[in-house]
Amino acid sequence: MARFNENFLELKESYLFSEVAKRVSTFKEKHPERSVIRLGIGDVTLPLGKAVVEAMHRAADEMGKAETFRGYGPEQGYDFLRKAIAGHYRSFGVELDIDEIFVSDGAKSDTGNITDLFGRDNTVLIPDPVYPVYVDTNTMNSRNIVYINGTAENDFLPMPDRSIHADIIYICSPNNPTGACYNRAQLREWVDYALENDAVILFDSAYESFVSDSSLPHSIYEIEGAESCAVEFCSLSKTAGFTGTRCGYTIVPKAITSVSADGREMSLNKMWNRRQCTKFNGVPYVIQRAAEAVFSEEGKEEAKAMTDAYMQNARIISDTMERLGIRYTGGINSPYIWFECPFGMNSWDFFDFLLEKAGVVGTPGAGFGSNGDNWFRLTAFNSKENTVEAMERFRSLLKKD
Ligand code: MLT
Repeated sequence: MARFNENFLELKESYLFSEVAKRVSTFKEKHPERSVIRLGIGDVTLPLGKAVVEAMHRAADEMGKAETFRGYGPEQGYDFLRKAIAGHYRSFGVELDIDEIFVSDGAKSDTGNITDLFGRDNTVLIPDPVYPVYVDTNTMNSRNIVYINGTAENDFLPMPDRSIHADIIYICSPNNPTGACYNRAQLREWVDYALENDAVILFDSAYESFVSDSSLPHSIYEIEGAESCAVEFCSLSKTAGFTGTRCGYTIVPKAITSVSADGREMSLNKMWNRRQCTKFNGVPYVIQRAAEAVFSEEGKEEAKAMTDAYMQNARIISDTMERLGIRYTGGINSPYIWFECPFGMNSWDFFDFLLEKAGVVGTPGAGFGSNGDNWFRLTAFNSKENTVEAMERFRSLLKKD
């Protein structure tokens, strides 16, 4: 009989957002008459922009004609999209070679897939709280995980601890779930720490398009030296409404090398290319044309209008926290608002309380790590109308009279 990977025994029984969805559907079955507003999973609600949809239509038409039909595409992505992504990086002052850009079906997949490149004996440094995919995918491979604490005391922006050695470091900024965003000086320290430790930073920039403060970095490559120690993952999911359309990109600079136990060097760019050619057949042509349109002048304006609308919702949520005197972070350069659970509740109890009493769904902080036990996340991705309604319900539930 085939034996299973026993590391799966170490995982929580279900993935965080599957557990949230399960509890919501049980509630809906029990109370079909109740209206439920979802501010839980970070799933967008605004439709794709016009420029994007038109590009998809044109590409679909091409696929229907013998002269323009395309079969397998390059595993790394079409050059037209890689060039558009390089242009986006140029707008932050970062020059990339297109061979360093790999088009993907999203940052979630690739932050997990990248673990294929690293031996099991590496020590992995992961902030707590953080997006659960980093912990789960390394647990599946039984790597040693060391946690660094994100707490209210450090504004949920943990900094390197030089007494700890790490080989692989995950950073998500703007952060999921806390919405906190590292500044240049803080990222400088992380890059210095990685270089001192010969470590690789796996930098998740999926929320970079929400950064509105011009002093904050959008990419780790804005920090000198990062090109020789950092891999970056980004996604169009939140930037341009691609959660269901699926397209992202991973940057693996040619300057990064890794070593084997006996000291042989390999280029991570070559290894990633090898891995992708073996396991991935690329993102569909129609989707890549749609993604290319996101970087056109019209596409950029449409994407900006979407982020502006979501950030208006973020303000509605953070204003509610201010008015109720609840401690929170995020909501400024991020679509997430992370707040301390009222009444000293733990986050799963507060999840049930909020759902049952107000019909509002959020995400319990405990799902992002033990430092989230008493914290809770709301997203700004629902409509303005629903966000206003959810916050009215929230206020009436929590107002002190
Ligand atoms: C979240 O809610 O944390 C995100 O939607 C998860 C994801 O992007 O996979």
